[in-house]
Amino acid sequence: MSALSITVLYAAFGTVWILAGNRLAVALFGADLEGHYAFELGKGLTYVLITSGALWLLLRREFRRRDRAEQGRLDALIGARSALDQTAEALGRAIERRDPYTAGHQARVALLSAAIARRLGLSEERAESIRLGALMHDIGKIGIPAELLSKPGRLEPQEFELIKLHTVYGHDIVKRVEFDDAIHRIVLEHHERMDGSGYPHGLSGHAISQEARIVAVADVVEAITSHRPYRPAKGLDTACEELRRLRGAKLDAEATDACLALLDEGFRF
Ligand SMILES: [Fe+2]
Repeated sequence: MSALSITVLYAAFGTVWILAGNRLAVALFGADLEGHYAFELGKGLTYVLITSGALWLLLRREFRRRDRAEQGRLDALIGARSALDQTAEALGRAIERRDPYTAGHQARVALLSAAIARRLGLSEERAESIRLGALMHDIGKIGIPAELLSKPGRLEPQEFELIKLHTVYGHDIVKRVEFDDAIHRIVLEHHERMDGSGYPHGLSGHAISQEARIVAVADVVEAITSHRPYRPAKGLDTACEELRRLRGAKLDAEATDACLALLDEGFRF
C-alpha cells in the first residue's frame, strides 16, 4: 500500500466519521447538549482507538519488512565475504602442484602471521585479512619458471632478479579481486625491508604497510625452519637468532618482538 493511498484512506475515513457522527448526534440528542457532549467524547475516543490500531498494524508491517530487507543485505554481505575467503584459499592453493614448497610455506606463514597480529592486539578483522594475504603472498611465483623455484644451489644474480618479480606478478593477480587493500599490499610488499633494502620498490619504515611488515617476519621464520631445495631445514633457535639480528633494521621491531614471544611461549606451525 502506498503512502498516498494510506493518507487518502485516513482522510476519507475521518471525514465520513465526523459527518456521519454529527448527523447521528443530531438525530439522537436534538437540543440535549449534555447528550451531544457525551456522544462527541465517545466518538473522538473511538476514533483515536481505531486509528491507533491501524497505525500500529501498518508500522509493525513496515518494521518487519525492513528487518527482512536488512537480514537479506547481511546475508548477501556474508556470502560475498565468504566468496572472497574461498577465492583467497583457492589462489593460495593454485601453486600447490607446481611448487609444493610454496603452498605449504604460505599456509604456515598464514598461521604465524595471524598469531602475530592477534598478539599485537590488532582487530580480528585485520588478523583475518593478514591470514588471507599471507595465504597467497607468494602466488606470483606461478609466473616464475619452475626450474628456478626448485633449483638446488645458489641463484645467479639475473635469476634472483627474476624471482623478485613474483611480488609484482602476485599483486597483478590479486588486485583483480576485490580483497581488502591490506591483502593486495601484503602480496606486493612482503619483501620490503625497514631500511629500504627490500624489493620490489625499496620502501622503508612505515611506508610499508603494517600487515606486510608482519607477514615479512613470519616469512623469515618459516623460510629458515623449512627444508628448501638448496639447503636442509634449520632449527627454531637459528630462526630466533636471525630475528634478533634483523629486528629494527630489516624487520619491524614490534612484529619481531611479538613473534619471538610467541615462539618462546611454544607456538609451532
Ligand atoms: Fe615471497
